[in-house]
Parts: sequence; C-alpha cells; structure tokens
Amino acid sequence: MTFDEAFKVLKDHGQEHVLNGFNELSDKEKEILLNQIGDINWDDISLVKSRINGTEKKESEKKIMPLPALELSEIESKKDEYRAAGNKAIQDGRTAAVLLAGGMGTRLGLDKPKGELDIGETGNLYLFERLVENLKTSCSGNTSIPLYIMTSEKNDEETRRFFKEHDYFGYPKEDINFFIQEMAPAVDFHGKLLMEAPGRLATSPNGNGGWFSSLARAGLIDDLHRRGVEWINIFSVDNPLQNICDPVFVGATILSGCKSGSKVVRKNDPHEKMGVVCLIDDMPSVIEYYELTEEMADARDEKGSLIYGFGVILNYLFSIDKLEEIMNDKLPVHIVEKKIPYIDENGTLIKPTEPNGYKFESLVVDMVRLMGDTLPFEVAREKEFAPIKNLHGVDSLDSARELLKKAGVRI
Ligand code: UTP
Repeated sequence: MTFDEAFKVLKDHGQEHVLNGFNELSDKEKEILLNQIGDINWDDISLVKSRINGTEKKESEKKIMPLPALELSEIESKKDEYRAAGNKAIQDGRTAAVLLAGGMGTRLGLDKPKGELDIGETGNLYLFERLVENLKTSCSGNTSIPLYIMTSEKNDEETRRFFKEHDYFGYPKEDINFFIQEMAPAVDFHGKLLMEAPGRLATSPNGNGGWFSSLARAGLIDDLHRRGVEWINIFSVDNPLQNICDPVFVGATILSGCKSGSKVVRKNDPHEKMGVVCLIDDMPSVIEYYELTEEMADARDEKGSLIYGFGVILNYLFSIDKLEEIMNDKLPVHIVEKKIPYIDENGTLIKPTEPNGYKFESLVVDMVRLMGDTLPFEVAREKEFAPIKNLHGVDSLDSARELLKKAGVRI
C-alpha cells in the first residue's frame, strides 16, 4: 500500500492520526506501518460503532433451546466401549492435539507466555509441563500423539525457547510443531486505532477461533494428512487438570457419529461465567453467559437440574474432514474489552491497569455451530476443571492449586 492509499483509507474512516510522525520513521518502519494499514479489516473496526450506539445484535434475539449432554452416569455405563474405540483411534495415529497458547493472559499479568506459569508448590511445575504430562497419559503403547502448539507473534520465540530449554518435557520432539496465529489491531473506547510505538499499530492475537486457518497457513494440514490424523483435540493452556485426547471422550464422540465433541461441566451456580451449550436457531452452539436471560439461566427441569446447566471448558474434539469443509466460512468477530498498552500523543508508553479499549477476536466456541453438530460430553469438574485466569480469587492460580491437590495431583 502506498502512502497516498493509506492516507485515503484512514481519512475515510476518521483515523488519520495513525500517520502522525510518518516522515520521521525509517524506510523499514514506514513499510511495516503501511503493511499494517493495508491489513486492517475495516468491517471489524466498524463493529465498535454498533457497540457505542447500542445497536449490536444479541444472541437472545434468536431462538434458543436446550441441548442435552451425555451425562456422567450414561458415560460410566458405556465407559469400556468408549475407551476401546478411543484407544484404537489413538493407537492407529488418527488423533492429534492442538494447544491454544497464543493468548496474552492479560488478566494474569505475566510478562512471559502463560504456559510458563509455575504452578508448583514443592518444586517447579510449569503449566506447559503439566499439560504435556497430561497428554502423555493418553499415548498408549508406542504411539505418541502429534502435538501442535499455537503461539502468537508476541510469544512464539519465547515459547519455542522454553520448550527447547526443558527438552520438550520428555515428549518426542519430532511430534511437536509450533505455528503462529494472526494479529488484529486494537482501538480505544471511541473506536480510534491505538499505537503501541511510533509508527506501529497496537496489535494483539486475533482470538482462538482462527486456529485451524492458522494451522493451514503454516502448511501443517499436509503433516496431519501424512500422519493419517482424523480427529483433533484442541485445548486451552490454562487448565492444568484437563485430560487431553482422553480415550473415553474420543471414543464416545466417534461412536456418536457427530463431527465434534465438546467437554462440558455442570455449572456451579446458574450465573457462573461460562459459555453454555444449547441450540441457537436449531444449530448446536455455545451461548455466552451474558447472553442468557435471567429466566433462562435460572430455568430448571422436573428433576431440579438447570436446563442451561452445562458449561464448556475449552476442550473440543473436531473431525478434520469437517474442519476442512468449513475452513473458509467466516466466524463472527467479538469485541472484547482489554487492557491495551499504547503510546499517548507525547509518545509515552502507557500500560493501563484497567481495560482501556477493544480487541477483535474470533472464538473457538463459534466453531461448534459451523461443525453442524456436537456431542456435549460431561466431565466431573473436580477431576478436569481448574482454570487459571487470575492470580488470586475466582479461577485463579490459588484456586487451581487447591483443586489440583484435592484431585490428588502432586504439585
Ligand atoms: P482466554 O480467553 O483466557 O484469553 O484464552 P487470554 O488471552 O489467555 O487471557 P486474557 O483474557 O487476556 O486474560 C483461552 C485460551 O485461548 C487461547 C489462550 O492461550 C487460552 O489457552 N487464546 C486466546 C489463543 O490461543 N489466542 C488468542 O488470541 C486468545
């Protein structure tokens, strides 16, 4: 993009400030900024206007219905059958795992990748290490499960260095691949693009929803096909208690005939802040907790159980066939309030302590709808759910340590 083209497009969108000080930049910096401007998705940026005007479309305007889960008691009665089917898929090399580690973990406030958080009490136990250990327990016989790790521009180098320094935590190096997700610009609460340095737009990872297209862009689909992988278990970096490529979950999903499976837990209380599985306009979907009306959140069936009572824990199984089919379908873009470091008009770097603007993210929860079906698969939260979003309080390092110890994990 030339300077004139950039100037025009920025002027059309009221964002000319981005070119302030352009003449003082080096040729390289000018080129980087013009490329960044050329990559801006203006449709996404204009979404902020509907947020500011209060004209955003809400899920609650659509038809929402419950979606029952495969519950623990049913799973227990068919456990052996499910496990055998899952183990067979794993042994045949038909299963892979994708670790979503591209997030910024702003709530945790670390200056390193979230997976480097030390959750140990008696010695070091890094999140990355614990997740790799969890995955190892699903590898049976001589088969190791290929692991793909999604990073972002901001943490890729450090993540690779950390894995190498720790000798990949004993996992076969040839079965680990890293790939980088895309970035998106961020704006302040008035919709103005923020700068993170003179001549550089403030950008951040564009959400965890783009993982499959990023994997494809990195050329790794060939690797999956070469290995004969048919199912991918994606999982978050911040739940050290989760099972990864759990054979029972893999087997139950395959035998259900569904193209995807979603691990869910029973909500602790009707208003717990987690996405809930449901049908939206007859399609299996995940609805965010703030989109559920009070009435829906509190609704109970004749047994007294919450009707919208199963929350997702960011652990899904997806069939590759279907992923390839939907790869070019557009996921909705969410506007998320975050703390975004930026430079003010004097060029001083400000690191806000409270959210100061919006990021644009596509989310993996929206893939469930595109998959066309899903098997909501219940897991016991005390055995599989210890999310770490903050250092203290709810969903924190403190609460996760307690949950890990209760579950009998040595930390
Ligand atoms: P979160 O939604 O908790 O986001 O990510 P986050 O960026 O880690 O943390 P906050 O909100 O800034 O505090 C859930 C999972 O999705 C991954 C995270 O690494 C985590 O495993 N993720 C999130 C990505 O891989 N990329 C993203 O752009 C966002």
